[in-house]
Order: sequence, then C-alpha cells, then structure tokens
Amino acid sequence: MTRPLFLDHHSTTPLDPRAFEAMRPFFEAAFGNPHSADHAYGWEAEAAVEAARRDVAALIGARPGEIVFTSGATESNNLAIRGAAARLPEGRRHLVASAIEHPCVAAVMDLLEGRGFPVTRVMPDRDGIVSAEAVAAAIRPETGLVSVMAANHEIGTLQPIGDIGAVTRPRGIVFHSDAAQAAGKVPLAVEPAGVDLLSLSAHKMYGPKGIGALYVRRGVGLEPLFAGGGQERGLRSGTVPAPLAVGFGAAARIARAEMAEEADRLRGLRDRLLDRLSAAIPGVAVNGSLTARLPHNLDLRLPGVVAVDLIHALKDRVAISAGSACASASLEPSPVLRAIGLSDEEALASIRIGLGRWTSAEDVDRAAAAIAEAWAALTGQACRVEFEA
Ligand SMILES: Cc1ncc(COP(=O)(O)O)c(C=O)c1O
Repeated sequence: MTRPLFLDHHSTTPLDPRAFEAMRPFFEAAFGNPHSADHAYGWEAEAAVEAARRDVAALIGARPGEIVFTSGATESNNLAIRGAAARLPEGRRHLVASAIEHPCVAAVMDLLEGRGFPVTRVMPDRDGIVSAEAVAAAIRPETGLVSVMAANHEIGTLQPIGDIGAVTRPRGIVFHSDAAQAAGKVPLAVEPAGVDLLSLSAHKMYGPKGIGALYVRRGVGLEPLFAGGGQERGLRSGTVPAPLAVGFGAAARIARAEMAEEADRLRGLRDRLLDRLSAAIPGVAVNGSLTARLPHNLDLRLPGVVAVDLIHALKDRVAISAGSACASASLEPSPVLRAIGLSDEEALASIRIGLGRWTSAEDVDRAAAAIAEAWAALTGQACRVEFEA
C-alpha cells in the first residue's frame, strides 16, 4: 500500500526512530515491572522509568516528583479536573473553562456541571485567543478551578497561560492547562506560568501511543481516579508501562534539544504552504491568529467547498482533516470554529493541516498542488496552480 502524505500531525505523530530504539530493550530482556522492589529486573525498569520522569519534567521546567505517568492526555485531563474538583471545599466549586477546549476537557466540565459544579465557559476572541481579562471576568469568589489549554487542537492558537496564571495564583484558584498539542512544540515552563496541573501526551510529540503525564505541582491535592496499588504517589494506581515511559522520555529529550530549530523550519514550511495556497485559491482565509500559533499548524477555510468532500477527494494523496480526530467524522460544524465567530458554512469549509518532523519543502509543494487541484475540481474553477520547484 502506498500511503498518502501525512499532514495530520495534530491527530498523532509518527514515533521518532530514536525513541523506538530507546524503548526496544524494555520490550525484550529488560521486561521487569518497575514496581518490583526485590530484584534486578524491577530495579532496571524502575531506573529507566525514573530517568524518563526526569526527561519529561525537564521539558516543562518541573521537578521529577511532580510528574505522574498516565495513559495519555485524556486521562490526565480527567485526573486533573475531576481529581481537583473532588477536593474543592464547599463554596469554591465554581469552575471556569475556555469554550475551545478539547472534548476530553469539555465533556468533563459538562459531567461536573451535571453533578452540581457551576461552570462558566469563556469565549475566545475572533483570533482564537482566550484572554486573561476574559478569564478574570468569569472568576467569582466561589471559583475553585480554571482550565485553559496551552494550544488549541484545531486552529493551533497559543493561549496566554502565564497571564492567566497571574490571575489564578494570587486568588488561590487551581489552574489546569491541557498542553497535549503545545508540549514539545513551543517552550513551556510551569512554575513561571503559575500552572498547577498540566496535561501531556507522548503520541502528540513523536513518542509512543498509550502514555501521557500529568504535572501536579507540589502541594496540590487530587482525588485519584482509580483505587489500587498506589503507584505514582497514590495518584495513578497501575503498573507504569516502562517501555512507553522510556519512549516518552526519549521524545521529551529530543524535543527539548531540537524544538527551537524544528519550530523555525516548520514555520517556514507552513508559510510556504500558505503562500502557495493563497496564490492558487482566491479567497482562502486562515482561521485564528497567525502569530500566536503553533508553528506547524494551518487551519484554513476554502471558499465554495465542504471540507469533507475536499478531504475525500484528496484521500489517496494527502492525509489532512476537518478538525480534531474525534470530531472529524461528524458533519457538525466544529465548536472551536463556531466559538471564534465562523458561520456554519465557513466552519464546514475548513481544513486542518499539521506539518511534522519529516515534512519537506517538496511535500509542502505537492500538498499545495493537490489541495488546489481538488478545490478547483470541486468548485468548477480553472486550476491556477503553477508552482516553481
Ligand atoms: C488538546 C488535546 N487534548 C487532549 C487530547 C487527547 O490526548 P490523548 O490521545 O493522549 O488522550 C488531544 C488529542 O487529540 C488534544 O489535541
């Protein structure tokens, strides 16, 4: 099978071969349970898990003891929000979240609302930014927790986490941020940002699927989701999957070393793609701020098409999506795009493109030509694509 060019790096990323190599021994001879305290198999796996914990912590400026391994960002978000909400005292049970959160935060807010926690959802501006002022305006004396993502999963907009932390910290409000899309792509430093809880996912940053982490600032109390053996400081019972933790640690180390250079390269390619598509498709528009944005993200609305038709027409050549992986199969307009003020028609005409570590300039040119051709075929326009190499 020849696969189409993969430009959907927000849904997931390929495993970096260096992370794969680091994991390999822990699937083979070094198969011990990291919680076995009685023999060398356990000690070896434990040492590897702890090294990985240090690497993940270093990526976000945390202490290793503040990292709790989970199965991914969905679990981290559930543990953070449900776990913190369960500890909020009577009279501090009001929750604030942005209106553009991933479904695994939005649905937790809905669930808690149904259980008697009042929730205020803060709208972004037209650029897709949730300002600290808007968050401050939503805060009440009863507010116990604020959740605002670090980077949006559709339009890639970067939220002013540090400014929001400056609002929540002096008020003693727990501040959670979902950094599944931001981690490894843009610098994150939990302490100066005033973040108390931060969710991470390895498979969004060239690590393996099935592992993530929650940063839990020292002193922040959480109710665990499961009862069990009390691993991960009692916050996440269950055997830590050592091979996955090692792969996550390697991915974090690689990201820390290469992030700045990779971001510059991908920003250049992203701009090249936008230039080519703008030249070929009259009226193409970018959803969300182009400056406060993940360097590898482009979310575009194309006039005169329904995105799912375009994506279908491209399916043998380029893999892109109409939104987040969980929502892209539905024909409902994206809540994120609606929240930034797009009409249903504009939202349904929007595509999400995510460039990645192995995307080349040739790939970008090929993708631009394919998208422009598909758009022209669907809209009955003459194809205006003439790209120089
Ligand atoms: C912002 C955001 N949060 C959470 C998740 C869920 O991550 P995971 O697949 O690790 O559960 C995703 C995945 O799309 C995401 O983009």
